[in-house]
Amino acid sequence: MPHDTRDLNSDRRDIADLDEIWLFGYGSLIYKVDFPYVDCATAYLDGWQRRFWQGSHDHRGTPEAPGRVLTLIEAPAKRCFGKAYRVTLNEFDHLDHREKNGYVRQLAPLQLADGRQRTGVFYVGLTNSPAHLGEASERAIAEQIFRSEGPSGSNRDYLHQLQDALAAHGEVDDHVMAIDRLVRQLAGDD
Ligand code: SIN
Repeated sequence: MPHDTRDLNSDRRDIADLDEIWLFGYGSLIYKVDFPYVDCATAYLDGWQRRFWQGSHDHRGTPEAPGRVLTLIEAPAKRCFGKAYRVTLNEFDHLDHREKNGYVRQLAPLQLADGRQRTGVFYVGLTNSPAHLGEASERAIAEQIFRSEGPSGSNRDYLHQLQDALAAHGEVDDHVMAIDRLVRQLAGDD
């Protein structure tokens, strides 16, 4: 698969040196937790924001008709809400496989809601990868999400589950909310 980042990630040893490994999830890792963890907390990553600019050729679309999923882009004045999971190194074979479509692990300071400050590990889409679809209007993104589907289910479910999870925490992400509304309109739900 041309966008596969598993080797890139498994070559990185930086997380092995951390006293505690805190995985920060901002997309499906908020609501689909298919790995064991020893602790979990609401968390915030400063200087980043969500964008549906990453292609999904493996989960929510196909190589011929990719869906769109989230990546993070740097945005100095923004704060990204997410879930942090304290995990062991053993979980990264599974996580690197799950996030293999153009995502690389990155480290940055993470603020846990209970006041603790830790180093966070998160997956961000490489912008020079063919898996990076890049910027498009919210309407074009909504139309692509509306029609896409892959081995992990519909692209719409990815979006709606995320929007529901954010709403359950009282979080508003304008980009996600606008696309969620547009997709519901396309489905005739609104
Ligand atoms: C994440 O959730 O943190 C990464 C992107 C995704 O898998 O949706």
